[in-house]
Amino acid sequence: MRVLGIETSCDETAAAVVHLPPEGRGRILSNVIHSQIEDHRAYGGVVPEIAARAHVEKLPQVVAEALRSAGVEPAGLDGIAATAGPGLIGGLHVGVTFAKALAGAHGRPFMAVNHLEAHALTPRLAGQAAFPFVLLLVSGGHCLLALAEDVGTYRLLGTTIDDAVGEAFDKGARVLGLSYPGGPAIEAAALAGNPKAHPFPRPLAGRPGCDFSFSGLKAAVKRTADGLAQQVGGGPLPSDTVADLAASYQEAIADCLADRVGNALAPHGPLAGLAVPVSALVVSGGVAANGVVRARLEAVAGRAGLPLVAPPPALCTDNGAMVAWAGLERLRLGLTDPLDVPARPRWPLDEIAGPPPGPSAGAKKESLVSTG
Ligand code: KG4
Ligand code: ZN
Repeated sequence: MRVLGIETSCDETAAAVVHLPPEGRGRILSNVIHSQIEDHRAYGGVVPEIAARAHVEKLPQVVAEALRSAGVEPAGLDGIAATAGPGLIGGLHVGVTFAKALAGAHGRPFMAVNHLEAHALTPRLAGQAAFPFVLLLVSGGHCLLALAEDVGTYRLLGTTIDDAVGEAFDKGARVLGLSYPGGPAIEAAALAGNPKAHPFPRPLAGRPGCDFSFSGLKAAVKRTADGLAQQVGGGPLPSDTVADLAASYQEAIADCLADRVGNALAPHGPLAGLAVPVSALVVSGGVAANGVVRARLEAVAGRAGLPLVAPPPALCTDNGAMVAWAGLERLRLGLTDPLDVPARPRWPLDEIAGPPPGPSAGAKKESLVSTG
């Protein structure tokens, strides 16, 4: 099976072809990304209008390059997938319309892919993460914990009550005078800093449940940075001060994530009654590229006797291969979509259509205990 995937939900114009042989693992035949980061950098975040325009300009050549370097003609594809949500509606329309036109013109099946499901399924491309697994999805727009039971079947365990964790990195970076996107900038600055220099709060840590909160932490780093700036006469902070703030902030974020995941995996937590034990803790989304976050999660998973499965850093941030792979997983279950399916700016992970539940899937669901 060969599937083309198109990603235009935010600030990456991306297309890829993935291949699944009859036996063996998935393989990425091509993975082309045009990043718009430079177009948005001056604004410190993604400007929807600029993003949509750049997708219109770049997508045709990005798709052509993905097909060319994979050595595949459109007619030789088994299916064509595009991110249909959630995301910025202008960009979603560009990708979905392009994919539908290609699918219609060549008589190929079309798959409307949920961006969150694409992040969730990425490790399965390399044959990792058998269902069910616990998913921690940490990106610029999302922060959630879920039980992934099957393609299209996700049970939400917790979500953020304010900011997404990538957003916390991006806003924190702005406060520290670091560049956009903030996550990689904070991780790089933190290398020279002391993670114990500032005792920032860990919102919700030690409390029951699997929800997240980052706004109090973000406010604390701003307060501290403003105070330190006053001490140096309002000028830019010295680089060793920025390094300590970045390291302490990153440490607090990693602690918050670890605490909530610890609750999800606890012996008497929400997974206690599952008929089938979970196979792994999967972390994906842009923030999963962070080394400190990964190390902390590996320790939490290890305490629960689970492996941590994370895509390679380049597949954590948005890319076309994750969309192509999610499309392929759906195609082989017969989950294709009509060409009039709409793009959806809001599309929660637990509202994706999956295969009809079999008797064992039903039993698994009923045995799930909620922690409230
Ligand atoms: O998954 P993604 O590429 O796009 C969304 O779907 O949102 O995630 C982008 C987010 C940004 O907030 C960026 O700052 C964050 O992922 N990010 C990181 C790192 N690399 C990207 N956060 C922390 N450490 C990183 N190394
Ligand atoms: Zn994403």
